[in-house]
Amino acid sequence: MSPVLTWLQCVRCSERFFRNARLYLCPHCGGLLDVQYDLDALRDRVSFERFDERLGGFQPWERSGVWRYKELVAPEADIADLVTRGEGNTMLYDSPSWLVAFTGHKLLQLKHEGENPTGSFKDRGMTSGVTQAKQMGAHAVICASTGNTSASMASYARLSGLQGVVAFPAGKVALGKIAQAVAYGATCLEIDGDFDVAQHLVLQAASQLSIYMLNSVNPYRLEGQKTIMLEMLQQRRWKVPDWVVVPGGNLGNSSAFGKAFIELYALGLIKRMPRIAVVQAEGASPFYHSWKDNFRARQSMKAETIATAIRIGNPTNYDKAIRTIERTGGLVVCVSDQAIMDAKAMIDAAGIGCEPASAASVAGVRQLVEAREIKTHEEVVAVLTGHLLKDPNAVIDYHSGMLAGLVPQYANQIHQIPADFDALAAWVAKPTTPAEP
Ligand code: F0G
Repeated sequence: MSPVLTWLQCVRCSERFFRNARLYLCPHCGGLLDVQYDLDALRDRVSFERFDERLGGFQPWERSGVWRYKELVAPEADIADLVTRGEGNTMLYDSPSWLVAFTGHKLLQLKHEGENPTGSFKDRGMTSGVTQAKQMGAHAVICASTGNTSASMASYARLSGLQGVVAFPAGKVALGKIAQAVAYGATCLEIDGDFDVAQHLVLQAASQLSIYMLNSVNPYRLEGQKTIMLEMLQQRRWKVPDWVVVPGGNLGNSSAFGKAFIELYALGLIKRMPRIAVVQAEGASPFYHSWKDNFRARQSMKAETIATAIRIGNPTNYDKAIRTIERTGGLVVCVSDQAIMDAKAMIDAAGIGCEPASAASVAGVRQLVEAREIKTHEEVVAVLTGHLLKDPNAVIDYHSGMLAGLVPQYANQIHQIPADFDALAAWVAKPTTPAEP
């Protein structure tokens, strides 16, 4: 019998379980589960050279920005079972002058996860999650979603011949995301409740019905999402930044990023950790309030924010995200909807673009620079999580001043003109890009 390389382990009571056990939470204490590896056995199999070599490979899995790091994602999965769309391979942008002026920080890079096949970082977690579903012989998968998870799961489920069932909060999901789930042929359920209610129902379904759940409480999702950090490091030629700044909703990314750095450090591949800053929207900031209280008590709240992707009041990955903050010397901040939408307008106008929740990271950088928490000489990587086209209504409503309670500081209005050459020429003479910050 070959030695055990991968297992599930409770983050609370450390009990171990078989890697293919259909578990989401520890059956003994209810704690979250990690996928854990025998890192000593993996040490000889992972190297920067090996990851670099695969960049020139021709197999679809080698070209994937997730499976390039297979040894740290699913070392025991069969290559033939990998369900991939060539996800990852997203840009790491140097900050254009526009954003340097806005954030007050020069050494800022943007890792744009909106450049994934379905337009969000979820594809990295879905390629690993759906591959695990296949390994376990599931025939159907389910998730609750603020939109991106459902879009991604719908696509990967279809690609692998599984039935996909998605549950989203009625009236609170951006149009582009609903369109994707419908188009990819998922069974789409609008729940009369918020995300937290939908998540609860889906957990119940996963425990009572024969369907595999792919929310980020599923530890295999986070293994794929770790590669956002692996790829970012590879792009930086393995130089660890001083800060990684990420929006926090259900805290899957925050948890995955911490786990990635903990493992890389344990493997001796990096010599120090970055500090991870989690940014929440003010109206959906339970983790921020817990952090303010030194994590003495878990907080939850009724969430409300224009950044619907992170409109979450009771984040699932709470305990794992605490581990990230503690192990990386990180912190949590919260930003207003006004700050999010202004940051988004700046990212958009820089020619890069993202959806509202993504812009929370840049709004967070601006706040941390202003508070002198981020120092001038420190290198910062902010993660943009979703594509601009996910939420076209937010764009148009912001620029036309239609967002209740918000002032569009950087509006780029559409001008109605008659069908007349002189009227057109007059506008050509005075370009109307929004004012530089
Ligand atoms: N940004 C975007 C664009 C998201 O879609 C999400 C989460 C987050 C940030 C927060 O990430 O949960 O890892 O802290 N969206 C989930 C969904 C909840 O259902 O699509 P997290």
